[in-house]
Amino acid sequence: MKVLVIGPGGREHAIVRSLLADPNVSEVHAAPGNAGISKLVPTHAIEANDPDAVAALATKLTVDLVVVGPEAPLAAGVSDAVRAAGIPVFGPSMAAAQLEASKAFAKEVMAEAGVPTAMARVASNAEEAADALDTFGAPYVVKDDGLAAGKGVVVTNNRDEALAHAQSCFDAGGTVVIEEFLDGPEVSVFVLCDGRNTVALSPAQDFKRIFDNDEGPNTGGMGAYTPLEWAPEGLVQEVLDRVAQPTVNQMAHRGTPFVGVLFVGLALTSRGTRVIEFNVRFGDPETQAVLARLKTPLGGLLMAAAKGELDKVQPLRWSKETAIAVVVAAENYPDAPRTGDRIRGLKKVESIEGVHVIHAGTRLDDEGKVVSAGGRVLAVVALGTDLVEARERAYDGVELVQLEGSQFRTDIGGKAARGEIKVQTPGTTAATKAKA
Ligand code: AMP
Ligand code: GLY
Repeated sequence: MKVLVIGPGGREHAIVRSLLADPNVSEVHAAPGNAGISKLVPTHAIEANDPDAVAALATKLTVDLVVVGPEAPLAAGVSDAVRAAGIPVFGPSMAAAQLEASKAFAKEVMAEAGVPTAMARVASNAEEAADALDTFGAPYVVKDDGLAAGKGVVVTNNRDEALAHAQSCFDAGGTVVIEEFLDGPEVSVFVLCDGRNTVALSPAQDFKRIFDNDEGPNTGGMGAYTPLEWAPEGLVQEVLDRVAQPTVNQMAHRGTPFVGVLFVGLALTSRGTRVIEFNVRFGDPETQAVLARLKTPLGGLLMAAAKGELDKVQPLRWSKETAIAVVVAAENYPDAPRTGDRIRGLKKVESIEGVHVIHAGTRLDDEGKVVSAGGRVLAVVALGTDLVEARERAYDGVELVQLEGSQFRTDIGGKAARGEIKVQTPGTTAATKAKA
């Protein structure tokens, strides 16, 4: 099987790496890729958000499957163009990608499908925003309605700051979604969908804020680990039964079947499991950790999803080890990241047992040297017998990465490794436990 992977980031590097380990995958291409990807497979310098350009490349390369990584090409209709060219594609249509591209649309589908999520209101001016903020009270949650690469959400106790974020979205011609605040730990569950059937991958936890202890602005994600030893038993089944399958059924019912990954972002609140958001693609950097543990060959799985054959797939096989990804970001990320700096030490990083490097914002300069080219530059991914060992290995690796001004969080997976994450699910309060 010949596969073309679309996208420039860490998620795509991880996908390419896993595809190359699939015995049924004979050839992989990527567009546009990055420095890490170009060391593994041929890359093609096309505009990844241009549906016709991607379809033309896929046709020219005579690939059997196209895997679309990021949300932007999906929202632009890349999958539709590839499908129209008669090539199977893993990634939703432009219409189905609205589940991520519009938070208001996602809320509408969740309401139709009975999926548990935060109460929310759409506001399109300052008056409506103020009214919604006062309805739900602090902490305030204000989300840009459109695609914002994980950076369009403000969660704050400061009403003026919440209003100011809403105003900046209105000024840019957009609307906002204002929500009730959800307490409790967050979980990312990736569900493979073929339009009808659903298969869940192992849950992961992401770290969205730039600084330790979840301080500072939101980013695309600064690190992740999987599996989650502390997650309630039955979480994955609950996500399939109450979230993914009803959503897939509803999308099919609407005439816009969902094919690809439904990324379910959850909060495990004291009142039960609630969806924070949907994305329509693999999470970054969760994928770097999740795929490091997946033993089922990836190419066959994504092809089954693309062809509507997920019901024929055997139960997934996973490594018993724990995986962690720690992101090394450029100076000034997430504002205006510094780029163009040499990155050194990566060979040494990969000489550590169980450790590999996944590139994100990197490119090769004129001399063929790896330089930074984006906010999140790379992730050090480590496997270990448990989270403690995986963390040690990953952070040993991070210390060896040489990139001027770079930053990383020191607490990825820290609380979980110390057994400090508590989920207070309804029905498991001290009182009901005592009775049982
Ligand atoms: P989103 O882009 O919707 O995933 O939001 C980004 C981040 O904002 C989430 O990962 C959460 O940490 C936070 N967030 C979003 N919605 C809520 C909510 N209703 N309550 C609490 N935190 C939220
Ligand atoms: N890591 C979260 C995301 O990919 O949106």
